[in-house]
Amino acid sequence: MTQNEAFMEHAPIINEKRCTRCGRCVEVCPKGIVVLRDDAVAYGRAGCMRCAHCYAVCAFDAISFDPPLVAPSFTSFPYAEEMVQPGKVRPGDLVNLLRSRRSVRRYAERPVPDEAMADLVAFAVTAPSGSNCQRWEFTVVNGRAKVEALGRSIGDFFTRLNRLVANPIVRALSVLVAGMKLVRYYRDHYASVAWGLEQAAAGRDPLFHGAPGLIIIHGRTDGSTPLEDAQYAGYNICLLGHALGLGSCFIGYAVEVLNRDTKLRRSLEIPPGNRVLAVIALGYPAVRFLKPALRNDYTVQWL
Ligand SMILES: Cc1cc2nc3c(=O)[nH]c(=O)nc-3n(C[C@H](O)[C@H](O)[C@H](O)COP(=O)(O)O)c2cc1C
Repeated sequence: MTQNEAFMEHAPIINEKRCTRCGRCVEVCPKGIVVLRDDAVAYGRAGCMRCAHCYAVCAFDAISFDPPLVAPSFTSFPYAEEMVQPGKVRPGDLVNLLRSRRSVRRYAERPVPDEAMADLVAFAVTAPSGSNCQRWEFTVVNGRAKVEALGRSIGDFFTRLNRLVANPIVRALSVLVAGMKLVRYYRDHYASVAWGLEQAAAGRDPLFHGAPGLIIIHGRTDGSTPLEDAQYAGYNICLLGHALGLGSCFIGYAVEVLNRDTKLRRSLEIPPGNRVLAVIALGYPAVRFLKPALRNDYTVQWL
């Protein structure tokens, strides 16, 4: 294999007949993969992350990828791909949309169609990811009975955990083997989990809030920024969910338990090497917010 051939691995394929050597792809390549050499587009180095910026600026359709990159397709709503240039969305509309998405903690019994869940995942993967790693994988749990069953198993985990940490001797001894983890859990979460368990015993669902569906985002953690990537993908799910009339809520408590309970992860068919990165409850809201989100005042420093 020549050096140029090695550099070409995973790199964009340049159609020599279409390429006009305008150099736009060279200007945008963040890694110096495509270069202009002797007035021809060549491969400068290996390490293409398949971001396809070169493809996106090429006016002559001279760039493709192998394996091919795919655009999302949706079945639960009409979609016509269109490039919206910077400044071409009314900023106030965007702000109102984002401020109107709220964490929904009351859901109607109406099930979410599988097509909508599939579209949420298809849109999730359009999120940015560190080094374009896209190491996210998705598990869709659709149907109230399945969500309830998972909620019960997570409740059982918390029951065991709370019983354990309620014992001051266990907390003291745990410092020797597990550091401050259990002590911190007792301080920060014990009381609210105990309250949640009481709610669950009374037939309510303080964990998933009665949601009929969940999307679990998991993946290997050897990418650049797996947790951040999953949060962006999850936020995409929440935003498209809002547009589809769905409410959503990140469920951090479920993430914590799933990462500690191997049997539960196995029951969800999450691959052994994967870490759970986000859990999002979804369903048609049974609450109507009348005002957009407010936030704490914040600190900003200008230099
Ligand atoms: C990473 C993360 C984890 C969260 N975990 C939970 C959770 O376990 N249960 C819950 O009801 N809400 C959870 N939330 C929702 C937050 O409480 C909510 O985003 C925050 O109160 C702001 O409200 P808003 O989303 O309606 O604007 C979580 C949010 C994030 C970002």
